[in-house]
Amino acid sequence: MVKILGVCGSPRKAATEYALRQALDAASQVPGVEVELVTLRGKKINFCIHCDKCIREDADRCLVWEDDMSKLYDSFYEADGYIFASPVYDMGITGQLTTYFNRFRPIYTIVKKNPDHFSNRVGGAIAVGGTRNGGQECTINNILGFYQTNGIMAVSGGLGVYGGASVWSQDKKAQGAEEDTIGIKNVRTIGRKVAEAAVIVKAGAQVLKNTSA
Ligand SMILES: Cc1cc2nc3c(=O)[nH]c(=O)nc-3n(C[C@H](O)[C@H](O)[C@H](O)COP(=O)(O)O)c2cc1C
Repeated sequence: MVKILGVCGSPRKAATEYALRQALDAASQVPGVEVELVTLRGKKINFCIHCDKCIREDADRCLVWEDDMSKLYDSFYEADGYIFASPVYDMGITGQLTTYFNRFRPIYTIVKKNPDHFSNRVGGAIAVGGTRNGGQECTINNILGFYQTNGIMAVSGGLGVYGGASVWSQDKKAQGAEEDTIGIKNVRTIGRKVAEAAVIVKAGAQVLKNTSA
């Protein structure tokens, strides 16, 4: 099976989670794909303090904080593809999602041994803003930056959904997202494209492995 992990960066069960569920539903319709949703809502995640203990001690997870992040590393490390969804806060991702991303400092322990460790994984981005053009593209770029810094391939939604899917919630929580029919169509496109890309890349990686053996 190919596993797609969806992470919701909203502190609420509202527009972003609605959009992410739509993306994961579309992803799950691709044969051979299973999906998992992780929400950062209610999670206590401390800031990375850049102590580099994880790197010095060769760990793939934080050794300083015992918090809700401790349970979130495995779902990330085990996935073949990712869909990160964030509300737009001040034209960027939320503090919750920033803090989650920063806690992956120990990824360096993995990639210094194998820079290609994550290169057979793919990721897509969703941003949900209260206004139509409130910084969704900046928010998508924040998410794509996380993929790029870790060697994960960013998936485009193709025509009109270039960097990822933008949703206009009108600050009306899930109902607002649902009413943005074009946004939700694009969200579903990202979900499907991430799943298809993950299937293709995983199969192709196996072919390369077999031919080089
Ligand atoms: C602190 C804060 C900052 C926000 N900044 C923006 C913004 O820059 N642009 C925008 O369009 N909406 C902004 N919003 C509105 C949210 O993006 C919008 O309500 C979104 O749907 C929230 O997602 P949720 O319903 O999943 O919680 C902001 C909301 C908050 C609480």
